[in-house]
Amino acid sequence: MKLNWKPCLSLNKHNHFLVKLAVAILLMGLAFRLFFFRSEEFPAPDLESPVVDKTEVGEAKPPVVFAVDVSEYEDQNPMPQNEYDDQDQMPQKVPEDQNKMSQKDLEPETCDLFTGDWVPNLKGAIYTNASCPLIEGHQNCMRNGRPDTGYLYWQWRPENCKLPPFDAEKFLDRMRNKRWALIGDSISRNHVQSLLCMLSTVEQAVDVYHDEEYKSKRWNFPSYNFSVSVIWSPFLAKAAIFEDNNGVSSSEVELHLDKLDKKWTEQFPNLDYMIISTGKWFLKSSIYYENDTVIGCHYCPKRNLTELGFDFAYRKTLGSVMDFIATSKHKGMIFFRTSTPDHFENGEWHNGGTCQRTMPFKYGEIELKDLNKILRNIELEEFEKAAPKAAENGVKLKLLDFTNLLLLRPDGHPGPYREFYPYAKDKNATVQNDCLHWCLPGPIDSWNDLIMQMVVNG
Ligand SMILES: *[C@@H]1O[C@H](CO)[C@@H](O)[C@H](O)[C@H]1NC(C)=O
Ligand SMILES: *[C@@H]1O[C@H](CO)[C@@H](O)[C@H](O)[C@H]1NC(C)=O
Ligand SMILES: *[C@@H]1O[C@H](CO)[C@@H](O)[C@H](O)[C@H]1NC(C)=O
Ligand SMILES: *[C@@H]1O[C@H](CO)[C@@H](O)[C@H](O)[C@H]1NC(C)=O
Ligand SMILES: *[C@@H]1O[C@H](CO)[C@@H](O)[C@H](O)[C@H]1NC(C)=O
Repeated sequence: MKLNWKPCLSLNKHNHFLVKLAVAILLMGLAFRLFFFRSEEFPAPDLESPVVDKTEVGEAKPPVVFAVDVSEYEDQNPMPQNEYDDQDQMPQKVPEDQNKMSQKDLEPETCDLFTGDWVPNLKGAIYTNASCPLIEGHQNCMRNGRPDTGYLYWQWRPENCKLPPFDAEKFLDRMRNKRWALIGDSISRNHVQSLLCMLSTVEQAVDVYHDEEYKSKRWNFPSYNFSVSVIWSPFLAKAAIFEDNNGVSSSEVELHLDKLDKKWTEQFPNLDYMIISTGKWFLKSSIYYENDTVIGCHYCPKRNLTELGFDFAYRKTLGSVMDFIATSKHKGMIFFRTSTPDHFENGEWHNGGTCQRTMPFKYGEIELKDLNKILRNIELEEFEKAAPKAAENGVKLKLLDFTNLLLLRPDGHPGPYREFYPYAKDKNATVQNDCLHWCLPGPIDSWNDLIMQMVVNG
């Protein structure tokens, strides 16, 4: 399966390709932090590059530079008229295809929960910054003074089926004596807070464990003997990370492609439900090990090592993760969650990228950035490979493919409101924007509606 590249638009653009590539590679020498991959859109003929062609993954390849020219979205897809800007005037859309919907309800197996659109939801979120004390400062957009609230009034509607809203009481009741864990990077942490906040509308979560750095944590819901953990394992594989709390790294990540991270594999047999994911950390400068021996790297220009490409490492790691799950003696329910897209425009995390939209996109109005496509395709392929093995072994392995659902929500990020009233002192202040994580309450609350549907109602 090929990635869906855009066709070459002009000869002129094509001629610029080599220049752009050279410049991009030079620029990479300046970049040492996450989320800095940016280049121009690659014209079609050159896209048959080894980095992209899956049959060649695993072979040595040049450093990978990708991203997308976001200005393109603006040209081709101007911001839709802000028809729902005023909440009072927000129309309540009625599904046009109600007959079809009720028919499909009778055959839930035909329902694809992950394809659909965002529709207005006058009710808004079931929790707020005031009702939930567990929202991390950087994602607490309400408290941080984000002025617009439209992003709170949308609800995910799958194309062909009904999705009832999350029912915290029913969920907790069903999860009596059960143990959950969300395993992965900071998006998993973002999600666990959303889940806890929604459940806390019924009973406050009690903090029962945290590691030294407060990265892995566990909470209990005492009346239900139900526990929820977040396990910090951004690569899922054994990794040594040399980075401070602001994400400034002093050296490359040392990543062991043949060893899974014990932080989650040791917990695995004790857990009833898991949501496992990873993604963007694989884009960082890394040295790859197998058998405790260096086999190459991804983006390590100062070292005399073979560039193996992050996609090589990602596929290898996900392959091991899936294998571990599919062949495990432990038969929990395991969700593999695909990675989430960011919405930086006019730059990236490190160089002033922003996300100022206040409305969702409609289906088809935005395309996944190239980097996200590569990650997601590997995720889907490795999942598809493992699914039959898991089924044969009686392991319940399911996919949570939230990528496209979130792609439509450029309005759901903190942007500058990752800080408390960022413009209070200086209206023109230069503020670090976050167009990667999600405001809470916010779009990822809808994940729990889908999970509820799959776990409790499904
Ligand atoms: C929640 O946010 C509002 C502003 O939207 C603020 O007035 C209020 O103090 C915040 N509450 C807490 C508990 O942070
Ligand atoms: C609580 O749940 C655990 C399993 O998660 C179980 O082993 C334990 O017996 C339960 N405790 C009570 C009091 O039911
Ligand atoms: C790892 O080391 C063992 C023993 O030292 C060897 O048998 C094996 O082939 C090595 N594997 C790889 C991938 O190098
Ligand atoms: C880089 O490594 C290759 C083979 O491993 C070696 O032949 C070459 O001399 C090395 N270059 C430098 C600058 O160390
Ligand atoms: C902000 O920028 C505008 C225009 O660039 C300028 O007129 C204004 O004085 C600036 N305000 C402050 C507080 O620096």
